[in-house]
Amino acid sequence: MSAARSPRILILGANGGLGRALYRHFAPNHATVCWGRAELDFEEPEALADKLVAQPFDLLLNAAGTTSPDVCEMQPETAKVTNVIAPQVIAECCEARGARMIHFSTDYVFSGEPHEPWNEDDTTKPVSVYGRTKRDGELAVLQASPKALVARVSWLFGPDKPSHPDNIILRAIQAADLSAVDDKVSVPTSNADICGWVERLMHADASGVWHLCNSGSASWHSWAEAALQIASVIGLPVKTTSLKPIKLAELVQLKARRPLMTVMNNSKLQNLIGGEIRHWREALEDYLVKKYSVQ
Ligand SMILES: NC(=O)c1ccc[n+]([C@@H]2O[C@H](COP(=O)([O-])OP(=O)(O)OC[C@H]3O[C@@H](n4cnc5c(N)ncnc54)[C@H](OP(=O)(O)O)[C@@H]3O)[C@@H](O)[C@H]2O)c1
Repeated sequence: MSAARSPRILILGANGGLGRALYRHFAPNHATVCWGRAELDFEEPEALADKLVAQPFDLLLNAAGTTSPDVCEMQPETAKVTNVIAPQVIAECCEARGARMIHFSTDYVFSGEPHEPWNEDDTTKPVSVYGRTKRDGELAVLQASPKALVARVSWLFGPDKPSHPDNIILRAIQAADLSAVDDKVSVPTSNADICGWVERLMHADASGVWHLCNSGSASWHSWAEAALQIASVIGLPVKTTSLKPIKLAELVQLKARRPLMTVMNNSKLQNLIGGEIRHWREALEDYLVKKYSVQ
C-alpha cells in the first residue's frame, strides 16, 4: 500500500478471534469496517460480489471461514463453499477493483510428517477436509488475484476468544488430574503480534505466501504447561502446573485427522521485519499477565 493516503480496510470475520484483534488494531488509525456473517454470508457466494461492490475499501483482510477441523470433516460441502469458493469470489472482486486481499490460512496445509520447520514453498499435503479446503482456498485466491497475500498462521491465542491456554487454566482451577497431547507440535502465535506483522506486510506491498507465527515450537502439552506455570506465577488458583503427557491417537473422539508436525519457518517474515520475532512463550506471558493479573 504505497498510496499516500492510508488504505480503507474491510475486515471479514467480525466475531472471530483474529478478526476482532485486527479490527482493534487497525480501527484507531485507518478507515476500517468489520463485517461478520450477518453482513456477508460466505454460504451465499452468489451474493458476495454485489455486497462487496457497494462497499469502498482498498485492502480486505479475510479472517472468516469454517475453522473447526471436525466441523469441516462432517460438513465438507460447507467447508468447500466457505474456505474455497467464497474466498475465490472475494479475491476476484478485489482484483476487479484494484484492491489488495490478505487471506488467512493454516499450518494444517502441511502433512505433519517429520520435517524441518516448513518453508512457504514446501509441498502442501493436507490430511483433512479442513486442511484441503484451506490449501485449495490459498490457490484459488492467488490465482484470482496475483497481488493477494496468503498468511498462514498457527495455534492462535488472544483476548477475543478462549483458546488452548485459557481452556487449560480454567480446567486446572477445577481439577489437578489433567493431560495433554505431547506428540503434536506447531507454533503458538499471538493474535496481537499477527496484527503488527500484517501492518508491516501491508506497508511493504507484500504478496504471495507468508508464514506469520511466533518463534520456537511447542506441543499441546508444553504449551499448556507453560500457560499453567505463568498462571501460577500470576497467582491464579490452579491446582497443578504439570500434565500427564498423552498421544494424539488417544483422542479417539476427534472427527478429523490432525497433522503431527506443522512448525512453520518464519525467517521470511523475520527478514522483512529486520529483527528477531519474539518467542511464543514471551507473547503468551504478555497475554496472560494482561488478561488475568488482578488489577
Ligand atoms: N485459531 C487457530 O488456532 C488457527 C490456526 C491456524 C489457522 N487459523 C486460521 O486463521 C483464520 C482466523 O481464525 P480464527 O481463530 O479467528 O477463527 P474463528 O474465531 O473461528 O473465526 C472465524 C469466523 O468466520 C466466521 N464464519 C464462519 N462461517 C461463515 C460464513 N458462512 N459466512 C461468514 N462468516 C463465517 C465465523 O462467524 P460466526 O462467529 O458467525 O460463526 C467466525 O467469526 C482462519 O482462516 C483460520 O483458518 C486459525
